[in-house]
Amino acid sequence: MIKPKVLIASRISKEAEAYIGTYCDYERWEGPRQIPQEVLFEKLQDKEGAILTGIPVNEELLSHAPKLRVASNVSVGYNNFDIKAMKARGIIGTNTPGVLENTVADLVMGLMLATARRISELDHYVKAGRWKREDNKNLFGLDVYGTTLGIIGMGRIGEAIAKRAKFGFDMEVRYYNRTRKYEAEKHLGVVYSDFETLLKTSDFVVLIVPLTEDTYHMIGTKEFALMKESAFFINASRGQTVDEEALIRALENKELLGAGLDVFETEPVQPDNPLLRLPNVITVPHIGSSTEKTRRCMAMTAAKNLVAALQGDITDSCVPELRRKGSR
Ligand code: DGY
Repeated sequence: MIKPKVLIASRISKEAEAYIGTYCDYERWEGPRQIPQEVLFEKLQDKEGAILTGIPVNEELLSHAPKLRVASNVSVGYNNFDIKAMKARGIIGTNTPGVLENTVADLVMGLMLATARRISELDHYVKAGRWKREDNKNLFGLDVYGTTLGIIGMGRIGEAIAKRAKFGFDMEVRYYNRTRKYEAEKHLGVVYSDFETLLKTSDFVVLIVPLTEDTYHMIGTKEFALMKESAFFINASRGQTVDEEALIRALENKELLGAGLDVFETEPVQPDNPLLRLPNVITVPHIGSSTEKTRRCMAMTAAKNLVAALQGDITDSCVPELRRKGSR
């Protein structure tokens, strides 16, 4: 049987590559950096499937990929998929839900703790040899346990954060989501809130929504003004869900106490980004899902999604907007 031709344009584990090799005739981009566009377009000419994490799958790319049937992401986010263009050509797009929520939720808790307890700032303080007195009030932080958490976006990751906050940190958890999550309310004791009330009443506001046309800059000047001056803002979704200039202004004007950021409007973040100068901001380089174990699971999931979709089996990993009638 002739194996379908596939391009692996993003880094994946050896096991995932071997899995793809069992079912497909594959070519792998080996460069240290993201594949250059002209190379990508040239290599896609004869490919039916591709692992294309973070690479825009849009009209331009598709016009260079006449045989493409499946684009598989090694990520849960799929804002790189131009749904309209893919739909028009009947391209299937897959992502990796179900394997990374605990890892991302752990990072979100870490960002909450690091901002409120000033962990990064105080680490530098100790290492600089500035620790002189036992009990210096200037080093005090704020509690996480027992406070109010507002989660914007109650998907799988939102629920994993809620579970930790509720049962591990005794927090009151409110959430805002397009649709109410009655099951989560029952099992996790989380309370649905309208958007404005959540912003006004939360000690920690966590943003964990997918990036879409509707969520682009969903948090900006108006939303920061509604938050408590004592609130911490955490973003582990995508940088473009937040108006970064408004965030910088809110932090500089002390409309917010601090922020924990895994994502930025431009990534890698530019060295002159004012967020990097603010002591009350904790930054990490988009590592929400980045543990060895989880990345391996994600790569294998993406490989299986790719092969299954090429074989005509459309699983739950096909992104909902591109699921065809009759598929699961
Ligand atoms: C995802 O899976 O979308 C994460 O942002 C990757 O870290």
